[in-house]
Amino acid sequence: MTGGLSGPAIKPIAVHLVSRVYRGIARSTGTPIIGMGGIQFWQDAVEFILAGASAVAVGTALFVDPSTPNKICEGLDEYLQKIGMDRLKDLVGTLELPEEMPPPKTAYV
Ligand SMILES: Cc1cc2nc3c(=O)[nH]c(=O)nc-3n(C[C@H](O)[C@H](O)[C@H](O)COP(=O)(O)O)c2cc1C
Repeated sequence: MTGGLSGPAIKPIAVHLVSRVYRGIARSTGTPIIGMGGIQFWQDAVEFILAGASAVAVGTALFVDPSTPNKICEGLDEYLQKIGMDRLKDLVGTLELPEEMPPPKTAYV
């Protein structure tokens, strides 16, 4: 029997993988990434977008609050206004890493 993990516990790994895929191939090819894994609040969505996601998806959080997507959209709107940015697109992949690190040797990639 097998099972899956979802929700906030997997978010660090999901954001990390989005960042790696974005820097590894998606940025140079213009391939959009849909970020998913543990997104519950608009701040979570921002993390994925900074890492390189062009859109985000929400799963588990819907069981806690079905209006999660609406709240995330409202939060993103307010955030963009606050930082003076017109388009969410301009935020995609803007995460600045201290240095370009070589890929870690891990079991999940
Ligand atoms: C109830 C439930 C059913 C799921 N069923 C599938 C599935 O059939 N196939 C699949 O690839 N992923 C499935 N997933 C995993 C989701 O596609 C996704 O990877 C995961 O939920 C991460 O996002 P979240 O943390 O926002 O839920 C399921 C997740 C949940 C919570």
